[in-house]
Amino acid sequence: MASKIKKIGILTSGGDGPGMNAAIRSVTRYALHYGLEVAGIMRGYQGLLEEDIIPMNHRSVSNVINKGGTILKTARSKDFATDEGKLKAAENLRKHNIDGLVVIGGDGSYRGAARLFEVSGIPSVGLPGTIDNDLMGTDQTIGCATAINTALESIDKIRDTAQSMERVFVVEVMGNKSGYIAMEVALAAGAEDVIIPERPFDYKTMHAEISEGNKKGKINWIIITAEGAAKAEDVANHITTETGLETRYVVLGHVQRGGTPSGQDRILSTRLGAAAVDLLLNGIYGKAVGVLQDEINVIDLKDATRRVHAEMEQRYELLKILT
Ligand code: F6P
Repeated sequence: MASKIKKIGILTSGGDGPGMNAAIRSVTRYALHYGLEVAGIMRGYQGLLEEDIIPMNHRSVSNVINKGGTILKTARSKDFATDEGKLKAAENLRKHNIDGLVVIGGDGSYRGAARLFEVSGIPSVGLPGTIDNDLMGTDQTIGCATAINTALESIDKIRDTAQSMERVFVVEVMGNKSGYIAMEVALAAGAEDVIIPERPFDYKTMHAEISEGNKKGKINWIIITAEGAAKAEDVANHITTETGLETRYVVLGHVQRGGTPSGQDRILSTRLGAAAVDLLLNGIYGKAVGVLQDEINVIDLKDATRRVHAEMEQRYELLKILT
C-alpha cells in the first residue's frame, strides 16, 4: 500500500544537544531517498507557529554530521503549550502540505508532540533529543554521551589543580530533575561523592568523611552535584564551614550542551532518524523511537516521558566502594 505521507516536517525543540544535526541529516536524506519532500521547521514549535519553514534537500544537510547544536535552531515555546497553540500548529502544517512531523527533543517536546497528535491527528513521531537521558524507551538519548565526555574533560583538569593545591572541588553538572549525567560523570571521573535529585543526600556523612579522610592524609576531593539537587556554591560553602577545608566550586553549565558529537551520538542519531521516517512511511504514528539493547524500539509518545533510572542506589554504593 502506498504511504499517505508525501511531505514530512522536521523540528528540534527544547535544549539542543550534540547529535541533533546528525539526526536531521538522517531524517532528511532517508526521506528524500524514499521520494518524500522534506521541510525544515526553524526554532521548534515556535517557528511552526510563525511558519518559519524552509525546504530541505540533500545539500541542506551537507557537512553537519559532525557539528554540535542544531542547524534548525531550537526554542522552548510558551504559545505552543496550549491546545489552541497546537491546533494553530496543525493548521500551519496542513497549509504547508506537511503530512508527517518528526520532533527531536526531550520530555516537554515529547509531551507537546503527543498532545498535538491527540488533538489534531497530525502523524507525529519523536526522537529522543536531550542530554539528560531521561526518556523512556531508549537506553540513551541523543547528546548524553557527548555531554558526559565534555564534562569529564573539564573534571580531569580540575583534578590536576585539586591535587596540586590540596583542595576540595564541587562540580555542578546539568540535570534538573535527572541525576543521570551527574552519576555517570561521578563514576567515570572517580569522584568521591555525588549529589542527585533521585536520592536523599546526607551532608553530615559527607562532612565527616571529608574530615576523617583529611586526617588520614587524603588531600583532594571531587564532589559532583546535579544542578537540580544542590547548587555547587552552597555545597562548597557548607563544606568550608563544617570542615574548615579550602573548597572551590565550578559550574560547567551549557558547555555540556555543545561541541562535536561523539561517535556514539552520531550513530544513535543516524539510526533513529531513519527509523522515524520508516514509521511514518508505514502509517505508525504517535510514537517515540529509541534504541534498547542495540535494537530499534518503538513506544507510544505519551508513555515515553520522564524516565527515572533504576539502580541509582547501587551505582552510588559502587562509587563509595571505589573511592
Ligand atoms: O534538558 C536539557 C537541559 O540542558 C537540562 O539539563 C538543563 O536543566 C536545562 O536544559 C537548561 O535549560 P536552558 O538552556 O533553557 O537554561
